[in-house]
Amino acid sequence: MGFHSMLVQLTWVGVILSFMAAAAAATAFPLALPNCTDRCGDVKIPYPFGITEGCFLNGTRDFFINCSNSSGQPQPLTGNLTVTNISIQGQIEIMMFKAEDCYNYTNGMSWNKTTAKLKIPSFTISVIENKFVAVGCDTYAFLIGNLNDQQFSIGCLSQCQNIRNVASGSCSGIGCCQLDIPEGLKNVSLITYSFENHTQVWNFNPCSFAFVIRKDKFNFYSDYLTSLQGNETLPMVLDWAIGNETCKVAQNKPNYICGANTICIDLNPINGPGYHCECKKGYLGNPYLKDGCQEIDECKETNICTDKQICVNRPGYYECLCIKGYHLESAVCVSDQSSLAIHLAVGISIIGLLILLLGCSSIYWGLKKRKLIKLKEKFFQQNGGLLLKQQLSNHQKSMETTKIFTTEELKKATNNYDESSVLGQGSYGTVYRGVLPDKTMVAIKKSKIGDQSQIGQFINEMIVLTQINHRNVVKLFGCCLETEVPLLVYEFITNGTLSNHVHDKSLSSLLSWEKRLKIATEIAGALAYLHSSTSISIIHRDVKTMNILLDDNYTSKVADFGASRLVPLDQTELNTLVQGTLGYLDPEYMQTSQLTEKSDVYSFGVVMAELLTGKKALSFDRPEIDRNLAISFMTAIKEDRLFQILENHIVNEDNIKQLKEFANLAKSCLSLRGEDRPSMKEVAMELERLRSMGKHPLGNIDVCAKKTECFLSASSHSFNIDVGTGCSTSTTAEYDSIEDHLLKHVEDGR
Ligand SMILES: *[C@@H]1O[C@H](CO)[C@@H](O)[C@H](O)[C@H]1NC(C)=O
Ligand SMILES: *[C@@H]1O[C@H](CO)[C@@H](O)[C@H](O)[C@H]1NC(C)=O
Ligand SMILES: *[C@@H]1O[C@H](CO)[C@@H](O)[C@H](O)[C@H]1NC(C)=O
Ligand SMILES: *[C@@H]1O[C@H](CO)[C@@H](O)[C@H](O)[C@H]1NC(C)=O
Ligand SMILES: *[C@@H]1O[C@H](CO)[C@@H](O)[C@H](O)[C@H]1NC(C)=O
Ligand SMILES: *[C@@H]1O[C@H](CO)[C@@H](O)[C@H](O)[C@H]1NC(C)=O
Ligand SMILES: *[C@@H]1O[C@H](CO)[C@@H](O)[C@H](O)[C@H]1NC(C)=O
Ligand SMILES: *[C@@H]1O[C@H](CO)[C@@H](O)[C@H](O)[C@H]1NC(C)=O
Ligand SMILES: *[C@@H]1O[C@H](CO)[C@@H](O)[C@H](O)[C@H]1NC(C)=O
Ligand SMILES: *[C@@H]1O[C@H](CO)[C@@H](O)[C@H](O)[C@H]1NC(C)=O
Ligand SMILES: *[C@@H]1O[C@H](CO)[C@@H](O)[C@H](O)[C@H]1NC(C)=O
Ligand SMILES: *[C@@H]1O[C@H](CO)[C@@H](O)[C@H](O)[C@H]1NC(C)=O
Repeated sequence: MGFHSMLVQLTWVGVILSFMAAAAAATAFPLALPNCTDRCGDVKIPYPFGITEGCFLNGTRDFFINCSNSSGQPQPLTGNLTVTNISIQGQIEIMMFKAEDCYNYTNGMSWNKTTAKLKIPSFTISVIENKFVAVGCDTYAFLIGNLNDQQFSIGCLSQCQNIRNVASGSCSGIGCCQLDIPEGLKNVSLITYSFENHTQVWNFNPCSFAFVIRKDKFNFYSDYLTSLQGNETLPMVLDWAIGNETCKVAQNKPNYICGANTICIDLNPINGPGYHCECKKGYLGNPYLKDGCQEIDECKETNICTDKQICVNRPGYYECLCIKGYHLESAVCVSDQSSLAIHLAVGISIIGLLILLLGCSSIYWGLKKRKLIKLKEKFFQQNGGLLLKQQLSNHQKSMETTKIFTTEELKKATNNYDESSVLGQGSYGTVYRGVLPDKTMVAIKKSKIGDQSQIGQFINEMIVLTQINHRNVVKLFGCCLETEVPLLVYEFITNGTLSNHVHDKSLSSLLSWEKRLKIATEIAGALAYLHSSTSISIIHRDVKTMNILLDDNYTSKVADFGASRLVPLDQTELNTLVQGTLGYLDPEYMQTSQLTEKSDVYSFGVVMAELLTGKKALSFDRPEIDRNLAISFMTAIKEDRLFQILENHIVNEDNIKQLKEFANLAKSCLSLRGEDRPSMKEVAMELERLRSMGKHPLGNIDVCAKKTECFLSASSHSFNIDVGTGCSTSTTAEYDSIEDHLLKHVEDGR
């Protein structure tokens, strides 16, 4: 098993995880219930609407569409109103009658006065799409409706003596008056009156009109003062929703209608209760049908991945995998040739292993099986299981949440490490999605190589991580030590990586400046906490946007402590093998191999630059001088070109000062010399100050500074842990794969 996964890793090293934003696929999915007609004339009728008994939602006739033939052409009607469009997203467009009041010049008598009533009890007038309009030069009109069972009315007034004063194009009170509609009105009626029976204006305006109309279909012309008489009905939009309860209540009832792979969305509470269904990300279809939401094969769209990648469709999302001979580095597929030597070495050792294995495995197959159980125990011990158990008992209280999982539990959770549960893959190993028996979603990380000399460190690190209870650090639930490489079990974060949100076009437009600043502040706070608030300092070593996860509320979580190192507080630097991600790597650390907290500060500076510019840290698609974002960003700041490189949509008049200060902070984080960079705590405080500046533009600095202190101290929990004991095991053996272990073990046993 270990052998196979190693081969796979060699060829399919890199994976880019991406979510589909808005799918533009053709609508081939069913709209209506089986055996039900899904259109009436040109209008599509999606369930819960339907045109025959049994085809629309039970319990209310509001969803019944009368597909009437009376005019020869099939015409969808709700009540006596023509329906022109129904959207699954919760809107229905109808042709609504207008209110009218017309006068006869010869006797000044009203000869046609109609009021308009809307009688669809559970639908409300869309506040966003419509306007209430009155047209006339001797006119006042009311819109009357019920809001929370109380009557409300709003009114519009327009008087003018001469048609020359009535300007086409502007509905601003002369000849035409318009109002926004209050939210949540039901049982609406319109009525219009005149002051002087139109006697002064009869020659150009014999009637008053009042109506609700779609904003985008209304443009006032002065000839409407007469010609509107010909428009018996006008287009307006209603909001529809299911039932009169909230999602929470409805979900536990038998008549809850959202189908598989959907989410339930409450209607705006002001609009009254009721809910909508929506397909989950990556699914398309009618969410009101039982199996309406179908998976999208995103890979069918051309050019979704770059040319060195192939697209793999997964339930709910897709992945771009590097093609054979390439692997992922800084989100770019790089030819394996560039690291040929290493791979050659690994390749040769694999071929050697393969031959050995083939020879031995057939002979020792029986033996192996018997020894497997013993082997598990051995791994458990090698991986520091005893040490961990001991540590756990020492820290019993605080360790309550940490669990040691068994191989079987994790196998079950990931469906035997099924390919469909792979969330991501990289040089560190593979991350699987898993579901524990209690339905908790988890991410399970399987490292690539179990470096025996690191086990003590690993255990320590694990204990430290389980103790960290910072809202912006991914929570570690537990681990499994029975396999060759320890497996880590983390909380599952739903919304993907920050990298994805910054670099995916459709997602990045949703990532406003406020969100970006919030994310930066949270990450800086988390890193500051790791650096200084714990009894031993933790250096993350691989800070990058791909290691920052976001949940559905854009709360950020620092993840992947695979490369992290613990530094006892009396030691400020550590000699290590240079490790990290190109584009984020501290140049000073690269030269000296001296690891300090300032290396994280540099990497964080790159993340800040990424948030500002939306560009990738390293991209071979850009001209050579622009490839490294840190360098091109510093150049731009020096040349005072900041506003040329910023992501366009985040800039507005109000945040220029914030942007400038943020960029300056990034600049100081990117200083070449570590000692010139601010500490993570200083960065966090400065960002917090910037944030409160945005919230209270006039707020004074003192208040902000105090707030920052509060913020920092609030996140520093008390934290006691004994580091010394962890490092006592030192095994020198290094193994390449599970088979290597097997062979050794078998030989020992002989
Ligand atoms: C749909 O109609 C066909 C033929 O009339 C019938 O065999 C089938 O059972 C119907 N399906 C449903 C769900 O009513
Ligand atoms: C509506 O209710 C009737 C009887 O209560 C049932 O036979 C029918 O299948 C229901 N229709 C839908 C679409 O649920
Ligand atoms: C449908 O509309 C037509 C024409 O307006 C009317 O005659 C018929 O009664 C309506 N059918 C139902 C079921 O309401
Ligand atoms: C509408 O009229 C057409 C032809 O005039 C006919 O084929 C169709 O069955 C009618 N539909 C309904 C619902 O009455
Ligand atoms: C349409 O229906 C409403 C309410 O049912 C009624 O007040 C109105 O007079 C009707 N209008 C026409 C033109 O039938
Ligand atoms: C119906 O509404 C949807 C969304 O509001 C829109 O995309 C579609 O073009 C509309 N169809 C017609 C025929 O107006
Ligand atoms: C207006 O009133 C006159 C006199 O009463 C009548 O002859 C004429 O038909 C009326 N016009 C309309 C449009 O009702
Ligand atoms: C307006 O018309 C009404 C009847 O429709 C009549 O009672 C009233 O006196 C008229 N007012 C004026 C100012 O002409
Ligand atoms: C009054 O106006 C309505 C709607 O505009 C129209 O249908 C009706 O024919 C008019 N009545 C008269 C008597 O003109
Ligand atoms: C609807 O509004 C009318 C007045 O326009 C009122 O008389 C009636 O009671 C209201 N109906 C409901 C159900 O609130
Ligand atoms: C009124 O009807 C005419 C002709 O059908 C149409 O061109 C015009 O757009 C309509 N006016 C409004 C405000 O919808
Ligand atoms: C909600 O709807 C149900 C059935 O449609 C009805 O019996 C109930 O009275 C409604 N409740 C409220 C608060 O409107």
